Amino acid sequence: MTQSPRHRPYLTAGAAFEIGLQPMQTAQWLDVGPDHGVFMAAKRARLAGCPPLYYRSLDRSRGAQAELLRLVAANLTAHHADVFTGDARSLNDRIDGSHHDLADPAREPLDVLGGVVEEDFVLFDSEERRDIVVAASNAYTSSGRIVSCVGRDMRFAHDPVPNLNDDLGSRIDRVIGHVQAGKPVVRFNWFVTPIASRLFPEGSHDANVAAGSAAARLLAADHRKAGQTLWLRVERQTFLRLPETGALAFGIHTYSDPLSVISGERDSLMALHRLLGSYSEERLAYGGMLATRGAILKWLEERLA
Ligand code: HEM
Repeated sequence: MTQSPRHRPYLTAGAAFEIGLQPMQTAQWLDVGPDHGVFMAAKRARLAGCPPLYYRSLDRSRGAQAELLRLVAANLTAHHADVFTGDARSLNDRIDGSHHDLADPAREPLDVLGGVVEEDFVLFDSEERRDIVVAASNAYTSSGRIVSCVGRDMRFAHDPVPNLNDDLGSRIDRVIGHVQAGKPVVRFNWFVTPIASRLFPEGSHDANVAAGSAAARLLAADHRKAGQTLWLRVERQTFLRLPETGALAFGIHTYSDPLSVISGERDSLMALHRLLGSYSEERLAYGGMLATRGAILKWLEERLA
């Protein structure tokens, strides 16, 4: 949890689905948040033993996993040296005192990686000119979908999101295929949810929709509580081509702040009002915001008045 949002993608977002990829400096690839120690303990507990709900991999992803782990270790010691010390074989985390054996033969490299950084990672490789998910470690999931994509493509990943494949599917396939080594890119998704935790509970999609309905009942009585009842959840997604194996590393870092964090930010209040006011009911329902939208809009309008 932060005092002010680390990223505000809603400021520049449009109401329609967008590709929204921007160039990214490699120094910005990974992030260490203010609750790093507590968060990593929860993330490690969730991923321990690679439960199939959060972790899956194909044998042929091993080379890409090892390359990704090497690149992450090098990036951490270069750009987060205040927190991480070590080398390609082992890392120490100064915040929680944890030690990570990067060469542990009993564990897959992606599994080891999941316990080191706050980012989740998904690896894509091409198969018959299609980009296929070959490994996924996804503790943040808000739908359970990503891990179930192992062995499948982006169309499958986006199938449950109403109209996304029809509107943007071919462009997404193209841009994913064209990410080049040395030219990483970043994009964002965001939504408003009553679930504060960066790690959603099991049955995440249904839990989110149910929590939205429960929050809507509370806010129907008093929409002024929206600022403390709801959370702004921002997903930062990075895309980096691995130069040796040619696999694509898709990284996800999730941020969660109380909606009240933007109370004094006129630009953010206006942006949320514009976007939530124009999203289709289908899209709001999928994101668990259909029930809460009315209360959120009223709360925003009062702050803007
Ligand atoms: C250029 C690349 C991508 C674009 C433009 C894109 C776009 C989007 C958009 C617009 C949404 C809907 C969010 C909303 O309603 O506001 C979405 C959701 C989603 N995307 Fe992507 N996406 C991309 C890459 C990926 C990748 C690499 C994966 C991983 C396999 C992925 C998996 C998902 C999933 C699972 C959802 C549903 C969200 C949920 O219910 O958890 N996306 N994506």
